[in-house]
Amino acid sequence: MILVTGGAGFIGSNFVLDWFAQSDEAVINLDNLTYAGNLENLAALKGDPRHIFVQGDIGDASVVAKLLAEYRPRAVVNFAAESHVDRSIHGPEDFIQTNIVGTFHLLEAVRAYWSGLVDAEKSGFRFLHVSTDEVYGSLAKDEPAFSETHRYEPNSPYSASKAASDHLVRAYHHTYGLPVLTTNCSNNYGPYHFPEKLIPLMIVNALAGKPLPVYGDGQQIRDWLYVKDHCSAIRSVLEKGRLGEVYNVGGWNEKANLDIVHTVCALLDELSSRVDGKSYREQIAFVTDRPGHDRRYAIDARKIERELGWKPAETFETGIRKTVRWYLENQDWVSHVQSGDYRNWVEKNYAERAR
Ligand code: NAD
Ligand code: TYD
Repeated sequence: MILVTGGAGFIGSNFVLDWFAQSDEAVINLDNLTYAGNLENLAALKGDPRHIFVQGDIGDASVVAKLLAEYRPRAVVNFAAESHVDRSIHGPEDFIQTNIVGTFHLLEAVRAYWSGLVDAEKSGFRFLHVSTDEVYGSLAKDEPAFSETHRYEPNSPYSASKAASDHLVRAYHHTYGLPVLTTNCSNNYGPYHFPEKLIPLMIVNALAGKPLPVYGDGQQIRDWLYVKDHCSAIRSVLEKGRLGEVYNVGGWNEKANLDIVHTVCALLDELSSRVDGKSYREQIAFVTDRPGHDRRYAIDARKIERELGWKPAETFETGIRKTVRWYLENQDWVSHVQSGDYRNWVEKNYAERAR
């Protein structure tokens, strides 16, 4: 079996669902269910003996040690993290605790477990750390996309904390020989994406008749990958990745934020038009920019394509259509995640942004 951390969040839950669509190998899912963790994402697995959910913190070394000793997984895939840049600006401490200190405790528990394995199990064991392209900082318009050797230049408390965790993972390989793999992926989108992030926020606000808040001039560029393609990349790296290596994962889909918002509006106009017949574009509102906002991310995914034969299955056009449809068909999920806590966040992040 494998141990997945953060498997009740956006990417982690997609990964667990996708894993069982391909394999019967059991998954222990360790997640402490922060605001971003949601067991409803895993409702399809209710009663499925292959899925063992444990509510707990990756920073709690005794819980992790107990799980490792009891279930003896052949691999750990670490998704658990605080993941939202704007939240890291309002309150960086949780990011330092989970992404840095938590990853450190997780690595320590895994190292102790791995050291005690017999040789065959030891050499087959893998620790896969899921990270982000944001550790590389921001690109100018005509600079080449991030390769795995690009210098680390994180600019937000979120990306700095992820960068620190990447360095710890690297150090545990070089110093202790822990068999690690790291993936640095671009922006994901798809089902179960918490509506604090750009794409789901725009869909949810549009349907609720609320403003669509575009930061600054909306010309910041992100490189978008459908979440299932990220999951398949992680499976490829886990299966065939070279030990100690880093693999950048991306969909060759660079888009300006404003273009993303226009695409979402056009799809909603087609699939669920406004009662007044006007376009959802009317709801776009330019608001005060994010402090320290990175201008452009772009991933050079040639290494994972060349070495592991991985390629994304979705284009942006097919992936975004599936995503908008999913939100239209799962409005109960949306209303359940819009709890009091969610409303407090929206108030905190947007109330002070001038139009
Ligand atoms: P998310 O915020 O949706 O989910 C994070 C999950 O981790 C939640 O279920 C949460 O409850 C859990 N968690 C948080 N702190 C924990 C702790 N201390 N112990 C145990 N569980 C904890 O995030 P996501 O978007 O699914 O991202 C998953 C991983 O992928 C993160 O490491 C993130 O940095 C990375 N990543 C995300 C993106 C993206 O576009 N979302 C892109 C590249 C990399
Ligand atoms: P986000 O989904 O928060 O991901 P990240 O910051 O990790 O890339 O934001 C994606 C882009 O969208 C980013 O450039 C910030 C911008 N954005 C807005 O313009 N308005 C919003 O309300 C949000 C949440 C993001």
